[in-house]
Amino acid sequence: MKVPLLDVNAQNLPLEEELTATFTRVLHSGRFIMGPEVEALEQEVAEFVGAKHGIGVTSGTDAILVALMALDIGPGDEVLCPTFTFFATAGCIARTGATPVFVDACPVCFNIDVEDAARKVTARTKAIVPVHLFGQAAEMDEVMALAGEHDLRVIEDAAQAIGARYKGRGCGSMGDFGTYSFFPSKNLGGFGDGGMVVCNDDTLAERTRILRMHGSKPKYFHREVGGNFRLDPLQAALLRVKLRYYDAYRRARQENAAYYVEKLSVLEGVAPSSPEHCCCARAQEKALGETRVVLPVCYEHNQHIWNQFTLRVREKGRRDALRDHLMDRGIGCEIYYPLTMDQQECFANLPESSRTGNEVAHRLADEVLSIPVYPELTREMQDVVVVALGEFLGAA
Ligand SMILES: Cc1ncc(COP(=O)(O)O)c(C=O)c1O
Repeated sequence: MKVPLLDVNAQNLPLEEELTATFTRVLHSGRFIMGPEVEALEQEVAEFVGAKHGIGVTSGTDAILVALMALDIGPGDEVLCPTFTFFATAGCIARTGATPVFVDACPVCFNIDVEDAARKVTARTKAIVPVHLFGQAAEMDEVMALAGEHDLRVIEDAAQAIGARYKGRGCGSMGDFGTYSFFPSKNLGGFGDGGMVVCNDDTLAERTRILRMHGSKPKYFHREVGGNFRLDPLQAALLRVKLRYYDAYRRARQENAAYYVEKLSVLEGVAPSSPEHCCCARAQEKALGETRVVLPVCYEHNQHIWNQFTLRVREKGRRDALRDHLMDRGIGCEIYYPLTMDQQECFANLPESSRTGNEVAHRLADEVLSIPVYPELTREMQDVVVVALGEFLGAA
């Protein structure tokens, strides 16, 4: 049996009738730029995540870029961001002309190590961009405390964490801005590119809306240079349909993750990370001893939405061997991410000080492997993955 890493048709085709009716409604409206569908999605997403304003944009990448622009981040500024993340987080900072300063990761939850962030603050630091990686919140109390101490702005990159919660609060709703992606593989996956910015401040929201439309207000009068960062009404309307099913998708991912933990943790050499030992929450990684494969954890104070279920394969070179083993058996898996940001060629010319001290993240880049956890995965398919992992461990 083949087990793909993701199956968008399994999620979308059961909604075919509703989606087709929605397409027809937008087609007949004749309104293809901005308007009521975009506004409705903005309100629905803002309410869903617990923020005051929602601003629909072209992608999760542009969401980060326009948020940085609205905060006047630019040349001469430094912005802290995790080095273990998807490229967009760092790429957007660099595109404003600011310098991304790469921060190490927690080996337990994979998120930004706030103690390392604190070490890397300088007089030029203007902002911090925590990423809620793989669907679990970063340690936001510590991020906000650090930001308060140094007067930093906070943009939460919640591309992978729409609907995830930290101590009851929605990921994306705690900083100056939160940004989301509707890329098809995300937990609220659209039909192409799309994104959303949320914030609680009226002035920042207004500025972001203006920047989204070339910086123009009124039309054809430009006080500043913005871009075309508009979300399509068709995309917005289709996403509104899927938002209504979000809770079922989330529950299914959580149940799938729990099933993996139950079945995989009994295999010899497999152990879960210990949630009380998170370095970004000021603790040490638990001694892993003979553990060969480490399972991801969900902290008690978090609601994890499992955008990815990411293993760590600790023996040198064995991660790639496991990937090949799974692929040979028709099981989709992926390395998120094989290189950290400080290791990327495009950042090789950044000052040495912005690229140092990321040993944990480098180790993670060598060890991580994400296996299928999407909502429509069946128990039978998960059993195929569990058996394949068992074989791999038994054969070594
Ligand atoms: C952490 C993170 N940030 C930003 C993005 C960018 O989102 P998009 O692909 O919608 O531009 C993604 C998604 O790919 C992501 O995973």
